[in-house]
Amino acid sequence: MLSQRRAWTDVENLTVNGTPMDSPVQAPISPRTARNCPARRTYAGSGVGMASAGLHSDRGGDFAILDAMTHSPIDIAEKLSQFSEPWSPKTVARLNDYEIKVVKLRGEFTWHTHQDTDELFLVTKGQLTIQMHEGNVTLEPGQLFVVPRGIEHCPITDGEVHAVLIEPTGVVNTGDAGGPMTAAQDDSLT
Ligand code: NI
Repeated sequence: MLSQRRAWTDVENLTVNGTPMDSPVQAPISPRTARNCPARRTYAGSGVGMASAGLHSDRGGDFAILDAMTHSPIDIAEKLSQFSEPWSPKTVARLNDYEIKVVKLRGEFTWHTHQDTDELFLVTKGQLTIQMHEGNVTLEPGQLFVVPRGIEHCPITDGEVHAVLIEPTGVVNTGDAGGPMTAAQDDSLT
């Protein structure tokens, strides 16, 4: 009990291993965190917010990359409203070497395997069943599933499904199966 009491006392006195801390906020905030805070707040805001924060005038070239960006969120539903054809994934954003795609799924696809990569399905509308020989997985809106590399799979729907795919750049939708459902790379929505 004595040692436990001493530990509580040390916390109250803001000491770490007997060394006094100057203030309760000094230790938890690293220089990196402090430096990143203004930029993170700017990303969440609008272009007007950025201007009012004085980032362009005060920081000049440091924020030049932001000038080249669209200061808007990417609206998944709006992107999906721009096309109707099923089984035709369209890239809407890039993340390092990965592509974020939106796709409409209707009916049954073709059995195929991606030997070199996992494949992420995130359903935003409808119900999607991913058939696999190991067992089926059914996704509702707001649910995602990652098909591991090398696992043969075949999506099937009852009605129209909207989904987001995340996979490395250049992945072919039909994997090693090929065939008429193979989609061309489509950057039209980026
Ligand atoms: Ni696939």
